[in-house]
Amino acid sequence: MKTIRWGILGCGKIARKFAADLRWVQRAELVAVGAREKMTAETFAKDFPVQYVHNSYRALAENPAVDVIYIATPHGFHHEHTLLCLKNKKAVLCEKAFSINQTQAREMIAEARHQNIFLMEALWTKFLPHYKKMKTLIVEGKIGHIQNIAANFGFIPTPPVASRLYDPKLGGGSLLDIGLYPVFLTLDLLGRPDEISAVMTPSPEGTDSQCAIQFFYKSGALAQLFSTFLSNLSTGADIGGDKGRIRLTHRFHGPTTRLEYYSGIVDTGETLSFETAKGFGYEYEAQHVTDCLLQNLTESPVITHADSILLMETLDRIRVQAGIRYPADDH
Ligand SMILES: NC(=O)c1ccc[n+]([C@@H]2O[C@H](COP(=O)([O-])OP(=O)(O)OC[C@H]3O[C@@H](n4cnc5c(N)ncnc54)[C@H](OP(=O)(O)O)[C@@H]3O)[C@@H](O)[C@H]2O)c1
Repeated sequence: MKTIRWGILGCGKIARKFAADLRWVQRAELVAVGAREKMTAETFAKDFPVQYVHNSYRALAENPAVDVIYIATPHGFHHEHTLLCLKNKKAVLCEKAFSINQTQAREMIAEARHQNIFLMEALWTKFLPHYKKMKTLIVEGKIGHIQNIAANFGFIPTPPVASRLYDPKLGGGSLLDIGLYPVFLTLDLLGRPDEISAVMTPSPEGTDSQCAIQFFYKSGALAQLFSTFLSNLSTGADIGGDKGRIRLTHRFHGPTTRLEYYSGIVDTGETLSFETAKGFGYEYEAQHVTDCLLQNLTESPVITHADSILLMETLDRIRVQAGIRYPADDH
């Protein structure tokens, strides 16, 4: 039976979690890793044994024994590394934020279509059991029409602080790193906002330490979203409808959150159960990509190219309002 052969580009923090979760994925195997320096890749391969250990990203991208590459570098490099892999006919699962801006996202997608190769943004949340259950409740009309969403994501980075969190060249700032999750949630449930307002607190490096966002919809729906590196917020989400509400508690974007459902006007709720992830939760997106590749798909039906463009376009609109710019915006 055919298996999909995975490679990992960049041997950092998230790459380790992803590699660990690949063992739960059916018909998938990790065959190669690539780092800027051989020693980094070798250290990684001690914990996650592979057939091929590459001392450059290019060598990994050119390896004919690899079907799909998971890009796990800081967002400032996603455009460059995705193009490198696609041009070498490798399918790509690219970490969030997909790119720095909409222009880069469009170029990445255009290349994937030109090469007729699979490309998907690694927005793992959309594949998680709690998230799918929440969507089912909403589609079934359990909370009626959504009137408002309040979602936040905040943590104080602890030393040693990764340079990618603040460095503008790496795509630093709270919005692209974590504000993206409340934005993704709102786009997924309410679609493209008709108007946006946003403000931010600058970091010494010139990126945003925190960002406050409001979405306005012609329907009357409103969303209030927040990201910060300055306090340990609840990282929760409230979705209010005219017939009930849903609350996702701490770390609403991950598999350890709690899903609370409140029906009607009486504010007594119930906590709903859902399947527990075997790993960190990345196994669901990895299984989806593996299944897509086994079916020879070039685009995911769950996270479409249009979804990634809408997310990057919305982040661009927020950045214009808040005054957040990156060197990549000038190219
Ligand atoms: N989905 C999620 O839940 C989740 C969670 C955390 C992070 N992420 C995303 O994953 C990406 C990586 O995050 P991370 O926390 O894993 O980052 P990280 O550990 O700081 O860095 C990842 C790797 O990027 C490579 N890299 C290449 N050029 C670099 C440069 N100039 N400076 C620093 N690193 C460089 C390094 O790989 P080598 O030295 O091995 O070549 C490094 O190990 C980000 O885009 C982030 O948003 C996603």
